[in-house]
Amino acid sequence: MRPSSRPANLGIDPARLMGRIEALGRIGALPGGGVSRLALSEADRQGRDCVAGWMRGLGLAVTVDRIGNVFGLRAGAEAGPPVVIGSHIDTVATGGLYDGALGVLAGLEVVNVLNDAAIRTRRPLAVAFFTNEEGARFAPDMMGSGVLSGHLGLAEALAAVGIDGATVGDELARIGYAGDAPVGAIAAHCYLELHIEQGPVLDAGGIAIGAVTGVQGICWTEYRFQGQTNHAGTTPMAMRHDAGYVAARVAVEARRLAGEIGGVQVATVGRLAVAPGLVNVVPGEALLTADLRNTDAATLAAADERLRAFAAQAAAAEGVGFEARPLARFAPVAFDPELVALVEETARGLGHSVRRMPSGAGHDAQMFAPHCPAAMIFVPSRGGISHNVTEHTDPAQLSAGAEVLLRVALEKAGVV
Ligand code: GLV
Ligand code: MN
Ligand code: MN
Repeated sequence: MRPSSRPANLGIDPARLMGRIEALGRIGALPGGGVSRLALSEADRQGRDCVAGWMRGLGLAVTVDRIGNVFGLRAGAEAGPPVVIGSHIDTVATGGLYDGALGVLAGLEVVNVLNDAAIRTRRPLAVAFFTNEEGARFAPDMMGSGVLSGHLGLAEALAAVGIDGATVGDELARIGYAGDAPVGAIAAHCYLELHIEQGPVLDAGGIAIGAVTGVQGICWTEYRFQGQTNHAGTTPMAMRHDAGYVAARVAVEARRLAGEIGGVQVATVGRLAVAPGLVNVVPGEALLTADLRNTDAATLAAADERLRAFAAQAAAAEGVGFEARPLARFAPVAFDPELVALVEETARGLGHSVRRMPSGAGHDAQMFAPHCPAAMIFVPSRGGISHNVTEHTDPAQLSAGAEVLLRVALEKAGVV
């Protein structure tokens, strides 16, 4: 397959792309840099309004489905499923300007370029952003694209309770994004997502573009421990039912286990809370989340099982009750080999260095992969830092990725 990448004189406008990234970054901006646009928060609503407004301004037909996914459709010369360019605009509470936003806004830039040049594609083109990709407020992550793919039921998603006790259904209605379009089966000719790498590989290697081969498996579990609140000074150590102590042991075990398994296994305890949380009170309750990831499904399942067994045993030894609730389960995914090759060849054709690589982070693209050819384009993250307000990619690097996206999208959509 040889990408034609035509028409040769088209190019994205780096200043316009950066302008939209910076404007969206002002919504939910944190004092000192970065953004917090947790899914279905007020800031997410404002971000959605802003991006949907840009979509309409570019002449896209905007629809919102029942899980709040937003699609902007540009008609093609022929009817049929569109080439979908997507990502997300929700962020973690310590987010940067690029995670998710880049993929959506580069999609708008592609449309802008085509509009300016009055180019009609053969297939329709859609730019989309999906509800709650991050999963930081409501689990599971990739929720909107997950419902679209059939990975998760709509009713189950709407009933999901967030870390603040709100439900997805209520919050969608509150922010005005409980749309009326049915969440249909995925009908996309193919799916493309440009994203920052969020890891150190491209930056360390001085490589411009990652041709993403797939996404590793993800396993999130919430552990709750129920002990007995008691006096810190008078309760002998042998008589305690310290839920905090058990949670701490499980957190240390998660780290130890990842080291023992080795290879690409990672383990993170990102949430750890004890109650009542007072200096002189033995914690009666504790909650922790474990995020385990591996490219190998069997190794990941075994790691999950071992951590759970350890938690059960540690709780029993302390006379503490224990519950484990699965929050998210995603199998490893491989992207379409032909589309990955097209990304690679297109980047090379534009004079960029390219590396094939798996993704360490979860992405909406993985929900499309079982239903249509899907692929991702990565650009470097400075120092491999992400989910951090200092997340950074140089404008020229962002533009290089957007240029590859434009060429691949044109190749797949065809020019009339
Ligand atoms: C999404 O950002 C993830 O947790 O991989
Ligand atoms: Mn992302
Ligand atoms: Mn993220």
